[in-house]
Amino acid sequence: MTSVSEFAQIAYPQTYADPTRLHALFTAMRREAPVVWLEPEGYPPFWAVTKHADIIDIERQHHRFVNEPRAVLQTLVAEARARELTGGSANPVRSLVQMDDPDHRAYRALTHPWFLKSSLRRLEPELARLARELVDRLAEHGGSCDFARDVAAWYPLRVIMSLLGVPPEDEPRLLKLTQEIFGPEDPEMRRGATEAELMQTLVDFGAYFDRLSEDRRRAPREDLASVIANAAIDGKPIPQFERNSYYVIIATAGHDTTSSSIAGGLLALLQNPDEMARLRADPTLLPKAADEMIRWTTPVKHFLRTATDDAVIRGQTIRAGDCLMLCYASGNRDEEVFPDPFRFRADRDPNPHLAFGFGAHLCLGRVLAKMEIETVFREVLARVDAIELAGTPALVQSNFVSGLKTLPIRYRMR
Ligand code: HEM
Repeated sequence: MTSVSEFAQIAYPQTYADPTRLHALFTAMRREAPVVWLEPEGYPPFWAVTKHADIIDIERQHHRFVNEPRAVLQTLVAEARARELTGGSANPVRSLVQMDDPDHRAYRALTHPWFLKSSLRRLEPELARLARELVDRLAEHGGSCDFARDVAAWYPLRVIMSLLGVPPEDEPRLLKLTQEIFGPEDPEMRRGATEAELMQTLVDFGAYFDRLSEDRRRAPREDLASVIANAAIDGKPIPQFERNSYYVIIATAGHDTTSSSIAGGLLALLQNPDEMARLRADPTLLPKAADEMIRWTTPVKHFLRTATDDAVIRGQTIRAGDCLMLCYASGNRDEEVFPDPFRFRADRDPNPHLAFGFGAHLCLGRVLAKMEIETVFREVLARVDAIELAGTPALVQSNFVSGLKTLPIRYRMR
């Protein structure tokens, strides 16, 4: 039997940089304590929910298990800092993931049509152009590079900025702003912002998006910024804080998540050469392979919910006000749902993974993310040969969004 204090390690960012240890913990939890109360030092206590069926069950009851007031597990220190900055809330922004109905439904409806497959189809030429540019970058690197840093991180950022309508010259600035607010706790990636610097970052962010909104109100375009800038609910423009939070979620949600799937997907193919060969021989497998890469990497490790009344899950009594951690990375290795869950199979079908969540908050950008991953691998597999590992890959330390931060590779252009 594994001890509860060991299970509490799933709260700490360092645990996520060691997938073997992480999955050993989750496997033991699914077997021995699938719904368990944890009290990790420095964090608020929570119920860890590790079974696929229970995660779905909780997400289905979204009026009973709500996103406000705590969407993500942060240290008590970080929560206190956010409360000071915002004047009471543990969240520095109020976007879809911090909202519940009726606001959530109304705010989600504003951009939902934009993210439908039928509407995203018109982005295909732009995605393909950016994927060509990405592989051109590989060619420029001359046969070796850090695929995670030099290539995978770059592509989704360009896609998001291009659909938001942010000009390329502003991208580095926005990247810095989002990293300062949401940067992982990994010491290598942390910006070390003080309270005053963080406050300044929030002010800068607001000012940047206020200008963008003004511009798009004066002269609307086809981009997502124009939808957000002109958004109204019940005939009234949405408030400034919620509007800027909307920009923030779009700018951040689709970036590290998609790049982690791309880099982690390539590593999975390198570690499973037969699957790489299959995919090269039959690119029609790409849609299934993209889903398997997303299941395999599960870039978003958790979201939290708070119980609004008492409930019993797998025999455990959850009290009103208790927090629950939905452990997507565990649900996606649940042996009751996925045959051979620790095997990467490019043609896995069915693949009912929870990497995009489930239910009312199901990822809004999931179709876009899959289009991006398929487009990148179509281009990489067609133009790059003999890809091999050229060093030791390393993962970001984060209990929220984590994936590879380095993936050194060698390759030959075709
Ligand atoms: C592989 C890439 C991605 C992964 C793994 C991912 C994962 C997730 C997860 C787990 C959620 C929460 C679902 C829940 O609570 O049930 C979510 C929500 C969301 N995602 Fe993604 N995401 C990805 C890419 C994107 C992209 C490309 C965008 C848009 C540009 C995006 C925008 C959003 C938004 C706006 C929400 C909030 C939805 C809501 O609360 O109603 N995501 N995503």
